[in-house]
Formats: sequence, C-alpha cells, structure tokens
Amino acid sequence: MTKWLAHARFIIGALALVFVVALAAPSGAQQPSSVNPTASSVKEDQLFKEMNRISGRCSIPDQKACTIEQPAGRDWREFHQKTLPWIGAIAILAMLVVLVIFYLMRGMVKLENGRSGRLIVRFNAFERGIHWMTATCFIVLAITGLNITFGKQTLLPLLGPDGFTTWSQWGKYAHNYLSFPFTLGVIVIALIWIAGNIPNRIDVEWFKRGGGIVGHDHPPAYRFNAGQKMIYWIVVLGGAAIAASGYILMFPFYTTDVTGMQWAQVAHGIVAVLFIAAMLGHIYIGTIGMEGAFEAMGTGTVDVNWAREHHSLWLEQENAKVGPNETQRQPVHPHATPAE
Ligand code: HEM
Repeated sequence: MTKWLAHARFIIGALALVFVVALAAPSGAQQPSSVNPTASSVKEDQLFKEMNRISGRCSIPDQKACTIEQPAGRDWREFHQKTLPWIGAIAILAMLVVLVIFYLMRGMVKLENGRSGRLIVRFNAFERGIHWMTATCFIVLAITGLNITFGKQTLLPLLGPDGFTTWSQWGKYAHNYLSFPFTLGVIVIALIWIAGNIPNRIDVEWFKRGGGIVGHDHPPAYRFNAGQKMIYWIVVLGGAAIAASGYILMFPFYTTDVTGMQWAQVAHGIVAVLFIAAMLGHIYIGTIGMEGAFEAMGTGTVDVNWAREHHSLWLEQENAKVGPNETQRQPVHPHATPAE
C-alpha cells in the first residue's frame, strides 16, 4: 500500500512538472519574436544596400553624427589606407633611388678651382636662424605625419600597442604645436628671400646648361639659381597649401563640412609626401651633393671660388656694392683653408 502511494506521488509529481513546462514553453518560445536582437542590424543592412549609406535621426545637436557611413567616406578611407601610402612610398623611395644613383654616377660636385681661402658672407645669422628653425619643424612634422600614414603598418608591429600609442600621442602633440613655428618660418622665408627668387631669363639658360650639376658647366646665376628658386617656390606654395589644409584638419568643421574635411586631408597628404620628396633633393645638394654648399647655411660664409663657380653674377653684384676688399675676408674656420 505504502509502495503504491509512493508510485502515485511520483506519477502526480511528474505530471505536474510536465504541465508546468508545457505552460512555460509557449511564453519562452515567443521571446525571440518580441525582442529580436538582430532586427536593427537587418534594417541597417537593408538601408545600406538600398541607399548606399547608413544614416538616421539622432537627438544630439551635431547632426553630422547621424550619418554613420556614406559612399564618400568609403572613398576617403580607401584613399587614406591605400592610395596615399602608395603615392607616398613611390614618391619618397623613387627620390631616394634617384639620388643614390646620381651620387654613384656623378659623385660630389667639387670646386673645380679649389678654395681661394677668401670668404664672402652669404646668409646672415637671422636668415640662418629662420632656415634651421623651419627645417627642424619640417623634419619633425614630416616624421610625425608619416607616422599617421605608415605607422600602423610599420611601427605598430615593432613597438606593440602600448608603445605605439604613446609614441603616436606625442607625435600628434608635436605635429599640432610645431605647425605654428613652421608656418611662421614659411612666411618669414617667403618675405626675406622673395627678391632673389623671381624667375628671369638667366634661369632658362641655367636649366639648358644642366645647372652645373649635370655635366661640368658653370652657368651664371645671381644670388639664387633656378634650382634654388624652384626649392623656394616649393617651400612657399607647398608650405601655404600644407598649412591651410593642416589648419582645416586641426580645427575640424569650423570652416567646412565633412566633404571639405575629406578634401583637406587628401590635399594635405599628397602635398606632404611630394614636399618630403622635394626636400630630400634639397638636403642632398646642400650636404653630400655639392662641395662647400653646407657652409652657406652652417657658418653663413662661402669660399669666393664657390661663389664664382655657382653664383658668378651675385659675386659681381656684391663686389660692386662695396668692393672685393669689403665683402671678402680671410677664413676664420679651418675648412676654408686653400686646397693647394
Ligand atoms: C602648418 C603646418 C601643418 C599643420 C597645421 C598640420 C596639421 C595636420 C593635421 C591636423 C593632421 C591630421 C592628424 C590626424 O589625423 O590626427 C595632419 C596629418 C599629416 N600631416 Fe600635417 N600639418 C602641418 C604640416 C605638415 C608638414 C610640413 C608635413 C610634411 C612635411 C605634414 C605631413 C602630414 C602627413 C603625412 C599627415 C598624415 C596624412 C594622412 O595619412 O592622412 N604636415 N597634419
């Protein structure tokens, strides 16, 4: 009897359990259809397919934030991640290859008549100070800018996420703050050297005769030859373009909309990599490419023979001003001793 009762209790308990589960099951089964976790993304996906963009309504004041994805944004991303790195790598590496080949073939452009042992002032302390201040800013801006373009592919694997984050953060501060002295430097350079950098007929002749760099000719030139004038205009116009586009990026949406921002970034990136390639050429000529050239910006004086070979008309002008004995003086540094 007790055994029978125990069996009956077990059967009733089991039936009750089945009943409770059966009741609960339909409500559980309804759950996915009332709260569908993928429904919004399905709508987004449909929207994206139909309109090629994802945008909607949002409650914050900045209505630009309501557009999450649009075709122009994808074009910009393609440019930033692929096109610009390719343009940059080709421009900079091609310039380096050309310079190495040129150096191997031509070597340093030597002073044909050696040094005279007499010096003439080429750049005063103010000019040299502005040049080096601007050049230093340029180099830091170039390195920290290239970090934005190439850092993720090249430095992130080497430094790891933490190291790369710290470096990029400091790089970004440097890029932002050094933009101001760089802009000032470009403006001052534009003003102090414009007089000597207006193109004239002599420049055509200079180019035709290979500028004294290709071959062994010494075409006449005033204070700045046609090659230096090119560098001047690259710095002034390139500097203006890079500063204007850079400040648009630095103060987003003050002067333009999202399309303008994208164009500013495209312009900034392209001008930057071409500018860097051009400056590599400038650095080459100013250092290992030409004997005696670095002194002009280093000490401020050049050997009179250097002036005669590379800037004969300028030397004549300087001598005419006050006479050779006033403009030329004995060397005060050891490298200016006569070659013979
Ligand atoms: C007034 C001067 C300049 C200002 C205001 C400026 C500003 C900026 C800003 C705000 C960015 C965007 C940074 C970011 O995405 O967080 C940038 C990127 C960049 N800058 Fe500059 N910059 C200046 C000069 C230069 C110079 C002289 C160079 C090179 C010689 C340069 C090379 C670059 C490069 C390569 C990028 C990255 C482009 C990219 O990959 O998207 N910048 N700059």
